[in-house]
Amino acid sequence: MTHQERVFSGVQPTGNLHLGNYLGAITKFVALQESHECLYCVVDLHAITVWQDPKELAGNIREVTAAFIASGIDPKKQIIFNQSQVSGHAELAWVLNCVARMGWLNRMTQFKEKAGKHKENASVGLFTYPNLMAADILLYHATHVPVGEDQKQHLELARDIAQKFNVDFADTIKEAGFEEGIFFPQPEPLIQGPATRVMSLRDGSKKMSKSDPSEMSRITMTDDADTIAKKIRKAKTDPDALPSETDGLKDRPEANNLVGIYAALKGVSKEDVLKDHGGAQFSTFKPALAELAVEKVSPIADEMQKLLNDPAELDAILKDGANRAYTIADPIMKKTKEIVGFIG
Ligand code: AMP
Ligand code: TRP
Repeated sequence: MTHQERVFSGVQPTGNLHLGNYLGAITKFVALQESHECLYCVVDLHAITVWQDPKELAGNIREVTAAFIASGIDPKKQIIFNQSQVSGHAELAWVLNCVARMGWLNRMTQFKEKAGKHKENASVGLFTYPNLMAADILLYHATHVPVGEDQKQHLELARDIAQKFNVDFADTIKEAGFEEGIFFPQPEPLIQGPATRVMSLRDGSKKMSKSDPSEMSRITMTDDADTIAKKIRKAKTDPDALPSETDGLKDRPEANNLVGIYAALKGVSKEDVLKDHGGAQFSTFKPALAELAVEKVSPIADEMQKLLNDPAELDAILKDGANRAYTIADPIMKKTKEIVGFIG
């Protein structure tokens, strides 16, 4: 790693943190802290792009914070904070609203999915959500962004916005001392491994999501051992045995999903899982998966509970994280203003 590398990622405090969030994102956050300077953000400004009950939001912010720490992120070594405590996110998002084009945002598939048929009724914030996400990353000149597959398009947009800003303001960027004309570096997405898109346990064609009305569709990070085992036992599958090679998973979305979950929990590839379990029926694979899931998730759930019993301590961690995040963000925000031509 070079010293300029910096990792940023975010998770929305919208409740129901699940195995997709854990395997697709949070485990990656944990791994990167060994080699990189990392900022992990509870993106509360993003959360309110759809209605959040004010009486529940603070609890959900603490839940994500607790999940980060219980999963192994060290809040002393790395920065854990909530987005709304660092005003630069909203400020830079405004500038980027004026850089990004309507046509670019119109292509965002997540907006179309979330707004559904009632686009006219969606909040304006939901539409400009990807600009705020770009601001989150660029505010720290972050270079690497670990996320699940569903965020790929948003990251491509963040790269386009960084590039357009650098081109639009090339002259003042150079005057500000960036001789190569690069003020915002292009962030690299990190989307790797067997669980970048964990699917619903009820329907292998839908991704596991916080908002699925069926509790049985997801394993949450706070589920107890019995609940985890029950959800896996009832997970939808086809009647065939597991194949011995990954090719055999091609048209079997549910089997592919469970093998992917097993692989990610165990920290191995799908090939390795099939070497051990190829030929097995689900009646034997599911209990093995349940055991593994309980072994990995239950200690985190227990630790989260302990942390959540002391909300004041979690709030202090977020405050400290926000102060440290601010010291990185502030000079970058000030330079941005100078480059745009603002006074003061
Ligand atoms: P969100 O809950 O939308 O804030 O997502 C937080 C992180 O979890 C992002 O990096 C997402 O890409 C990732 N994520 C969400 N759902 C899934 C899923 N079903 N499979 C893999 N990663 C996911
Ligand atoms: N949009 C991301 C999600 O829902 C969360 C997010 C907000 C994010 N800002 C970010 C992820 C910046 C990576 C970097 O999953």
